[in-house]
Amino acid sequence: MELLLTTERGIEEVAAQEVRELTRRSPVIDGGGRLLLRGEVEDILTLNYCSNSLHRVVLLLHRGEVQDLQDIYGAVRRLPFEEYISPGQTFAVRASRMGEHSFTSMDIARVAGQAVIDSYASARGVRLRVNLDTPEVVVRIELRQRLCYVGIDTTGESLHRRGYRVYQHPAPLKPSICHALVRIADWSAEEALLDPFCGSGTICIEAARYALRMPNQLRRDSFLFWNLGFLPLERFRELIRRFDARVLRQELKIRGCDISPKHVAGARMNAERAGVRVDFHTCDATRVPLDSDRIVTNLPYGLRMGSVRKIRRLYREFERNLSSGSWRRAVILTARPEFFSREPDRRIDIVYGRLPTAILVFEG
Ligand SMILES: C[S@@+](CC[C@H](N)C(=O)[O-])C[C@H]1O[C@@H](n2cnc3c(N)ncnc32)[C@H](O)[C@@H]1O
Repeated sequence: MELLLTTERGIEEVAAQEVRELTRRSPVIDGGGRLLLRGEVEDILTLNYCSNSLHRVVLLLHRGEVQDLQDIYGAVRRLPFEEYISPGQTFAVRASRMGEHSFTSMDIARVAGQAVIDSYASARGVRLRVNLDTPEVVVRIELRQRLCYVGIDTTGESLHRRGYRVYQHPAPLKPSICHALVRIADWSAEEALLDPFCGSGTICIEAARYALRMPNQLRRDSFLFWNLGFLPLERFRELIRRFDARVLRQELKIRGCDISPKHVAGARMNAERAGVRVDFHTCDATRVPLDSDRIVTNLPYGLRMGSVRKIRRLYREFERNLSSGSWRRAVILTARPEFFSREPDRRIDIVYGRLPTAILVFEG
């Protein structure tokens, strides 16, 4: 079977590495935050339950070029939905698109929804029911320029929603990106890791989950694959027990600090909900000793009016502190790479949020 795996644009290489480790199979990077994997049915469980960098796992039914809505109708109409949806189940089409088109995502969903109904009716003589709010089966369509992907969503709500965020920071980083930063830092569980601008603690929490091999336990009952009767769900339950048994118990040297006591308290709440132990403190990143093996962090951007001068000074003072610390690698995600005077040893541009964002890697 062919799987379409989605992630954040810019971290496809990291996601591909994680998929190789989890499945022992090599995905092909298909651009735009998408990977294609020729896999086994168990990979659906493994990737949904254990991946930290993916957002969604879709059973791919079709990938091809389309010109207009009529082509989309035709491509969807030809697919054998009777093999994937039971007659009594409800479904919805979720569509997204990237590029210039003369129609909207809602148009795609409407036309494709009709094609699913028509295909099913001609194969089974039954009119499938639509439920837009809580469908049992989701047909996912993604259009990138002319390239159209059609598949059955096995995930549901994006995997970057881990379920541990009980405290909401005003500018949190997606856990999938935090996981990518930790991997780019090449951190290993015996080493010390510090996030000096930790906010609600996402980088530290993701580092701990990665080191301890923690699966997406808080999401266990929410995956859409539980509604797909053609999958070996009893085998999936057995695999879940196996992944749960692999979780390590180990003391880690992960610290986070933030200048705001409120965010520090929130980070502690999030870590507790995630089931990991991290040392969170209130402190100033421009003064705290930066003496951990790895510094992995996400600086404020200063998007609000009038704050650019203050942010520039913060970057300057943090950079001074960084240069007097004894770390081995620093990985910094920022939308203000120009505020650093030192050239990074490596730079990865990613598409994230309103501003072009970069991951800067400095070797100590
Ligand atoms: C972009 S946010 C980090 C968000 C975090 N990655 C998360 O997922 O929640 C930047 C954080 O830097 C903190 N901050 C600003 N100036 C600081 C300073 N001098 N020292 C430490 N933290 C600071 C802010 O309070 C804010 O929480």
